[in-house]
Amino acid sequence: MNYKKLFDSPPNRRNSYCIKWDKNQTKFGRDDLIPLWIADMDFAAPEQVTQAIKERAEHGVFGYSYRTDDYVDAIVNWLGNIHSWQVEPRQLLFYPPGTVAAVNMLVNTLTEEGDEIIVQTPSYPPLMNVVKKNGRTLIENPLLLTDKGYRIDFEKFESQLTEKTKLFLFCSPHNPTGRVWSKEELSRLAKICKRYNVVVVSDEVHADLIEENKRHFHFERLEHDIKPPSVTIISSCKTFNMAALPQSTLICSDLGLRRKIQHQINNSQINLDGLFSAVATQAAYQFGEPWLRELREYIQENRRTLNRLLQDNLPTVKLVPAEGTYLAWLDFRELRLTNAETEKCLIEQAGIGLYNGLDFGETGDGFFRLNLACSRYLLCEAVNKIIDVFKSQ
Ligand SMILES: Cc1ncc(COP(=O)(O)O)c(C=O)c1O
Repeated sequence: MNYKKLFDSPPNRRNSYCIKWDKNQTKFGRDDLIPLWIADMDFAAPEQVTQAIKERAEHGVFGYSYRTDDYVDAIVNWLGNIHSWQVEPRQLLFYPPGTVAAVNMLVNTLTEEGDEIIVQTPSYPPLMNVVKKNGRTLIENPLLLTDKGYRIDFEKFESQLTEKTKLFLFCSPHNPTGRVWSKEELSRLAKICKRYNVVVVSDEVHADLIEENKRHFHFERLEHDIKPPSVTIISSCKTFNMAALPQSTLICSDLGLRRKIQHQINNSQINLDGLFSAVATQAAYQFGEPWLRELREYIQENRRTLNRLLQDNLPTVKLVPAEGTYLAWLDFRELRLTNAETEKCLIEQAGIGLYNGLDFGETGDGFFRLNLACSRYLLCEAVNKIIDVFKSQ
């Protein structure tokens, strides 16, 4: 299968119940812009996923289902084959409504109102929202921007922990900056959190989307003697572009914590998988590796293309160095415009829909997030429009 050819000419997503292409009037006030905002891909999922859904749909009866051993094996084998991580099936918990819903459940299960929860900023907005909307106190730990990309300010992180800090909501790899944290960085964070009895919830939905020469290390995999109790969340939703087929898997090796979470899941009666989510996830994990390998190359080349275009034509706007995700974090600060002014130019003059950096917290001031998971042709068209508008500013 020539996946590059498929990525080069993705399906038309307009009028396909698609937020990214159908909701631009609501989000940006015009329908005809190039949407590079919400984090899904323009690409079709691996063909085996569609095939598996079709086959199950043709059966025609959609009564109560159950979680099969094959589904669990597909997840365990994926972690073993792709990440060389041997997980025991008993360490897995399942939260069918999805990752953000799982984070919300964990915040409610593991902390009380008024507790402090620390989040690194800029941050994927729902991670901050679940803290604030559940009456917990959000502690923002700003990441440091260097020439090589974002780094963790460990001293500041430690200085922000108090006896009221109960949870660290970690994003790894990191949305929006695209950082793939090293094992050393994870170990340092783990040791600090352990010292302060802070549980770690690590949202790792971008774990499979990393550049060729990089490795993702799951937080849950760290040696037990250096880390506090923790939960890692993974999902097929980002990897295979299946956000409308929600599910999530939680990996927790701490027995006490696992029992507490399972108890909460049982009590809330959230156990039944969406049938098509399960069928799609199983097929994706079983057969999706070749597709994923080519996808990673395609995204990596899109990132290089974006960088080249900006460096050659609009060096005042900089792509922040990153090693994973399909997100590009663009630094517009040298233009000395407010985010509102930049956004107005992007929408009204360039006709491009990006995410405003301020949605990711105050540290996002001067930045915009661009989604690289589109055809290279569309990416170049969009970037050239941005260049045309800003090169004279
Ligand atoms: C870090 C992170 N977590 C979670 C999600 C969404 O996951 P779900 O659709 O399973 O709730 C996203 C989507 O962009 C994300 O970037």
